[in-house]
Amino acid sequence: MHTLILPQNNDGVTEAARLLRQGQLVAFPTETVYGLGGDASDDRAVAMIFDAKGRPRFNPLIAHVPSLEVAERYAHFDARARAVAEAFWPGPLTLVLPLRAHAGLSPLVTAGHDTVAIRVPAHPLAQAILQAAGRPIAAPSANPSGRVSPTRAQHVIDGLSGRIAAVVDGGASAVGVESTILGLAGTPQLLRPGGIPAEALEAALGMALEIGGSAETPNAPGQLASHYAPGAALRLNALSAEPGEVLVGFGSVVGDLTLSASGDLVEAAANLFHLLREADLLAGEQGRIAFAPIPQQGLGRAINDRLGRAAAPRP
Ligand code: TXA
Ligand code: MG
Repeated sequence: MHTLILPQNNDGVTEAARLLRQGQLVAFPTETVYGLGGDASDDRAVAMIFDAKGRPRFNPLIAHVPSLEVAERYAHFDARARAVAEAFWPGPLTLVLPLRAHAGLSPLVTAGHDTVAIRVPAHPLAQAILQAAGRPIAAPSANPSGRVSPTRAQHVIDGLSGRIAAVVDGGASAVGVESTILGLAGTPQLLRPGGIPAEALEAALGMALEIGGSAETPNAPGQLASHYAPGAALRLNALSAEPGEVLVGFGSVVGDLTLSASGDLVEAAANLFHLLREADLLAGEQGRIAFAPIPQQGLGRAINDRLGRAAAPRP
């Protein structure tokens, strides 16, 4: 299969929506990372997503919809969930909520769970494609399973070319780390730190969040220990480079590459996955990558989560 690169205009949106409605796979930009989209109401399209990524079938997908109104067709929202959705959607937040049975989502999307992960992205191209497709769109990050998430169309091509029908090129993703996943099917739980800082959710909910899941008993089943893995080995909290290392700097730690010279966590998140790929290329076959320490606050929690998984022992 030849993977088309579609432009970020009306023609690109129309073609992307047409392919999705035909049951084909189309990668498209969101403000967090590029998603690998397929019709979430079509078992065959959803199965193709798992195959294209090499993703284990027990790991459920996020359903993307254009609005809270459409989200309510597929999930049960109580007053608290509705308030959080109204505060943070569209945006980099995914809610895990009780699934509305028989609403038309393929059971492969939820991997048979009675909850569904649902998101309303803010990126104008994602919004336009979701509206034109008129279907819920299942979209994991558009990378082979276990590898670094894509924040540019070229990253998608590098990982999935020939396995998907098209990618819509919308330039670099602004947020750069995946959505925060908030479990609201029971006690509020932070299932994955991401583009909305946990502090902002705690302020909106008026309570501290439980941290859900772990590598052993993941509540978000994709939260396996090793993930985001580049080719080279990684060392964290490095203040300087050891021989043979490519150092990625932050703030006062000056590296070969820099997440943010001014120590800005928003800028660092936007650069993270691209620089992880660049560092991997620079490190080459024998090399290692070292990362400067990142403060554990705001978007720093999402950055440290991804770096921790990237550095974890590979299965
Ligand atoms: O920013 C994002 O969220 C991107 C863009 C494309 O929207 N998508 C993304 O999808 O990161 P993915 O598949 O790479 O990560 C989805 C995570 C996985 O860890 C999965 O286990 C979890 O969401 N998840 C999905 N459904 C769930 C459910 N019902 N309960 C708990 N976790 C769930
Ligand atoms: Mg992913």
